[in-house]
Parts: sequence; structure tokens; C-alpha cells
Amino acid sequence: MSYPYQINSFEAYKEVYARSVQQPQNFWADIASNFKWRRKWDKVLEWDFNNYKTEWFKGAKLNITENCLDRHLEKLGNKPAIIWEPNSPDEHHRILTYNDLYQKVTQFANVLKNNGVKKGDTICLYMGMIPELAIAVLACARIGAIHSVIFGGFSAKSIADRLVNANAKYIITCDGAFRGGKDIPLKSLIDDALESVDFIEKVIVCTRTRTPVSMLKGRDVWWEDEIKKVETLGMAPAVAEEMDAEDPLFILYTSGSTGKPKGVVHACAGYMVYTNYTFVNVFNYKQGDVYFCTADIGWITGHSYIVYGPLSAGATTVMFEGIPTYPDAGRFWDLVDKHRVNILYTAPTAIRSLMSYGDEPLKGKDLSTLKVLGSVGEPINEEAWHWFHEKIGRGKCPIVDTWWQTENGGILISNLAGVTPAKPSWATLPLPGVQPCLMDEKGNEVEGPGQGNLCMKFPWPSIIRTTWGDHERCQQTYFDAYPGHYFTGDGAMRDEDGNYKITGRVDDVLNVSGHRIGTAEVENAINLHAGVVESAVVGYPHDIKGQGIYAFVIYNGTHNADDENLIRKDITATVSRIIGPISKPDKIQFVTGLPKTRSGKIMRRILRKIAENDVDNLGDTSALLNGEVVEDIKKGKI
Ligand code: PRX
Repeated sequence: MSYPYQINSFEAYKEVYARSVQQPQNFWADIASNFKWRRKWDKVLEWDFNNYKTEWFKGAKLNITENCLDRHLEKLGNKPAIIWEPNSPDEHHRILTYNDLYQKVTQFANVLKNNGVKKGDTICLYMGMIPELAIAVLACARIGAIHSVIFGGFSAKSIADRLVNANAKYIITCDGAFRGGKDIPLKSLIDDALESVDFIEKVIVCTRTRTPVSMLKGRDVWWEDEIKKVETLGMAPAVAEEMDAEDPLFILYTSGSTGKPKGVVHACAGYMVYTNYTFVNVFNYKQGDVYFCTADIGWITGHSYIVYGPLSAGATTVMFEGIPTYPDAGRFWDLVDKHRVNILYTAPTAIRSLMSYGDEPLKGKDLSTLKVLGSVGEPINEEAWHWFHEKIGRGKCPIVDTWWQTENGGILISNLAGVTPAKPSWATLPLPGVQPCLMDEKGNEVEGPGQGNLCMKFPWPSIIRTTWGDHERCQQTYFDAYPGHYFTGDGAMRDEDGNYKITGRVDDVLNVSGHRIGTAEVENAINLHAGVVESAVVGYPHDIKGQGIYAFVIYNGTHNADDENLIRKDITATVSRIIGPISKPDKIQFVTGLPKTRSGKIMRRILRKIAENDVDNLGDTSALLNGEVVEDIKKGKI
């Protein structure tokens, strides 16, 4: 495959960028013309940020899997599409060529059809990082079912909430998942979720860990048995369903500053075009490169840059089941060595964690195949950037610091590897087609160098279309703060060259190990614990995780009252049960009161300062109703 829209020099970037702003419709139409369409669009773009609506490639018909699979078969059929590396290095890796993947996806699409799944149905995927997850994702897309992948670190209750919100009648899961030294009992968690959900028609269970699972007659079926049925029936490979450009492709739940997680909806055509375009340009992908993104498919990075972006570009994508430190902290480097990886895309948390092990895990690992490194999910601090650059990139590989969000579908601000300049800890320049701006406190646009809240003035093809079942929430969350603009929730700085540096969230959303966590959600979970009267959750700087979760808790229970550590463990267990292990507080401080304004609002600014250990700069506390608690909280700081 060739990529006529690949930008090859800084000069070309500037030219292309200018054209993308002056003639956005022509710009995107040119890129889109490189894909396989059943019918071309009538209109490239229709949009309104005031009454939110965005439609890209209106009237076009397509199926994204024809672009990820069918169109590659003739020339790239025998090329590895997915190289899968298991959790344990003792188990053999698997390679699926484009031919294999096509066969497996079209076969599993038949399984879905046989089980009653239809175009437009929502379907929940709760699986580990095995090739069958990618196969299931693509099989859903093949038949036009809307997938909603749930990360394995979420609890039964979180799964149930998502099933209800999406009205999903089908589930694909595994008996269990291997992650480092742990086995996660996925099917058992699904069973717990289904205690409170009675509309599920089928649960398809794929075998991975051989953990014993209960299988309910009429509802639960084994993946392998269903495949055999399709084989016995001799069904032809499932033909791709014809999708409208704007039909939903998937839902992915993400946390915000208020309420329950919202289902971000992405549409077929725009998402396909944008993930491919950004994959090819940001990583400067060349045919034959082996590309390894260490994310989990349960997050947007995995959707866009393990599955859809690389596969639509005919790339070889490495999929890793395990974690960076299992069986030891040299595992990523073993993988790079073993699979001759050329492009490595990972997260600052992983880099910081691996850095802490020193040079030992790097010994004897051949990293000479690496050409490009990438970072995503949180700000990368300079120390981590330099370690990544020197030790992993041997001082030779460009690092792309890619800024974007679940709602964006793909990378919005990043340098282009080897093409536009990098600046350590800066995401740098917007991609052509992306029009960021900074807004000051009064809602005016900041011109030139400066600081402000990061917004977008113009849509890009993979912008969020709606929040599932609640369009008003989408309008309020992203478009009401700055009329006529998409508001990201992030703060940023801009230098004299137009480079952006992301300074972090300006709302009550935390970024813990690159996972997005709403403080309100964690508080609600803590407050469900017996004995807890009230709580307030803030972030604090954490060496490895970026941010840690700090909870201030008013507790008046009697059980274990003489042992605060036991209460802490109980509260943590409650949060794990309600949201999932990824949201467990790192620190819990018991307090007698929370600083409140006269209108009863918790003054988080003060708690944040205390959690950050910046107790001498609490600022003005005169507006507090109960100023006296502040001294107590300061004294009890952990
Ligand atoms: O605060 C930004 C941070 O992660 C948030 C988005 O999280 P999520 O939707 O889970 O998507 C993560 C993967 C795309 C953003 O609002 N973030 C993401 N990338 C960067 C970043 N912060 C700084 N630099 C980045 N490169």
C-alpha cells in the first residue's frame, strides 16, 4: 500500500496545514479518496458546534472491515496483520496474516449472526488481550453491530451500568484473562454483573485460562463450539454489511467530572479516515515496519492504534497480552528484540516504571530495529522523555508525544516522526486538519504565545458524535463552556512557534497511570461504604502513576474503629467492588470535616494543595464556612 497523503518534510507540513484550514473539505476529500467505498459521499462535511451535530462524508456507504481486511488480501494476504505475544514468555506467540484474519473475522461474524446479532445491535466485549478480542471487534464491525469494549479492570457493577446504558443484549467474554501473575475471572465477573441485568440474550465465552466457569443453558455458549457449528454448516465468509458513513461504529465509556461514565460514540467513515491518516503520518509508517502499541484494546488507544489505524493501513501490529514487568522489567525489550519492532508506542507511566529498574533489564536486548518511539495518555516529564530517548531510542529515534482523547478518536496534536521537530514534554503542533485554540477565563481567544483552556474551533473526521442515549449531555460537556468550540477539559501553553504543551486537566478528572478517573465517581463509591459520612477525592503528584488518588474521608462507623488501616482496606475493597481495581485510592486520610464554602460546596482547591504537600500556599480561605477544619486536615496529612 502507498500513502499519498503521507507528509514527508516540515515544509510540506506547513503547506498541507495551511491548505487544511483554507479548504478543509477538499483536504479531507483527497485523503478519503484513498479508501474503499461502496458509494462516495454527497457532501464532505456538515457541522454545527452551537447545536451540536457533525456529519462527515454524508451519503457515503462503506464497511470499515473491507478497508482493514478485504482490500489488502490481493497484495498483502500473506503479510502478518497481528503478531500476538502471550502473557507468559514460555507460551508460543501467534501470527495471523491478513488472510488468516479475514478468514477468522468473517467466520466469527457468521457466529454472531447465528446467535441473532443484527446490524445496529449493541454488543459488549469483556475480554483479555488475545487475538480473539481483535477478531470479535472486527466481526462486530463486519455485520454492523456496535461494539462496546470494557476494560478488564472494571468491576461487575461497572459492567452492569454499561450494559444497561447501551442496552446491550449480547456479550462476548473469556473464561479468564492472564495479566502478569494474575488471572482475572472475566466470566465470573460477567455472571455477577448479570445478577442485576435480565435482558442479555447470549453470552459467547472464549477459552483462554481454563478457569472453571458456570455456563447457563440457553444463554451461555462457547466460542469454539459456535465456530464448529459454522464450519459444519459450511457458511461462506460473511459479506460486509453496507454501513452509512455516520452509522455508529462503537461506544466506548469514559469518565468525566460528573455523574456516571458516558458512552462516547464514534461513526464509521470519519473514524476510519482519521485513524488511518494519523497512524500513517504521526508514526511515519512505512510498509514492512513492525509496529507495537502497548495499550489495551479496552481503551481508545487500543481501538485506534492497535486495531483500526494499523490494519486499515495494511500494517503489522503487535498485540501483547501481558504487562511490562512480567516476568521481569525487561519484557518490552524482549518483545522489541524478538519481533524486530520498528515503532514502539507506549505510555509515560510504563516508561517511568521501567526507568526505576535501572539499566539491568536492558542488558543483552537488541533494540537496534527501533526507528520511532511514541508516548500517549498523559504528560511526559522531561526525565522520562530523556531516558526513553537515550536508553530505548539510543539517541536516534524521534519521539512523538501524541495528545488526544477518547472523544477525539485519534491523535490531534503531535510532532510527526522525523518530519516535524520534537520538543521534550511538548505535544508540539496540531495535525493538518486540526484547529486548536486557547481560551482565557473570560472566554476570549488567546492570541500568540500564552496559556489557557484548550479548545478546537473546527471539527475533524473522528470527533465524538454523541454520548450514547443522551445527546444533551454531549452538548453540555463539550460545547456549552465556550460557544462555537469543542472544549477538551485540558489546559495548555503555546510558545512563539505555535507548539502546544498540555498542562493537565482543568476539571475534576484525574489521570492515574494514563487511566482517566472521575473524582465524583470515586467519591460516590467511597460514600457507599458503611460508616462513611462524606468524602472528597483529589489528585496528587505520583512518581510513577503521574497522579495518585487522595481521599479525605469523614467516617463515623464503629466497626474496626480502633484500626484505621483496616477501615482503609475496607473502603478500598468497596471502591474496587463498585468501580474496579483501577480506581482504588492510594491514600485515605480520615478527617472530622471538609472545607466548605457558605453555599456548601467542598473547596477542593485547598484539599488539592494539602494533598500536594503545598500547605503553606493554601490561598484565601476566608470564604470558608468552617475554616477551623483546615488546620486539623493539615496536621493529619499522610
Ligand atoms: O489530559 C489529557 C491526557 O489524557 C486525557 C484523555 O484521556 P483518555 O480519553 O483516556 O485518552 C487517553 C489516550 C488518548 C487528556 O484529556 N493526555 C492524553 N495524551 C496526552 C495527555 N496529556 C498530556 N500529553 C499527552 N500526550
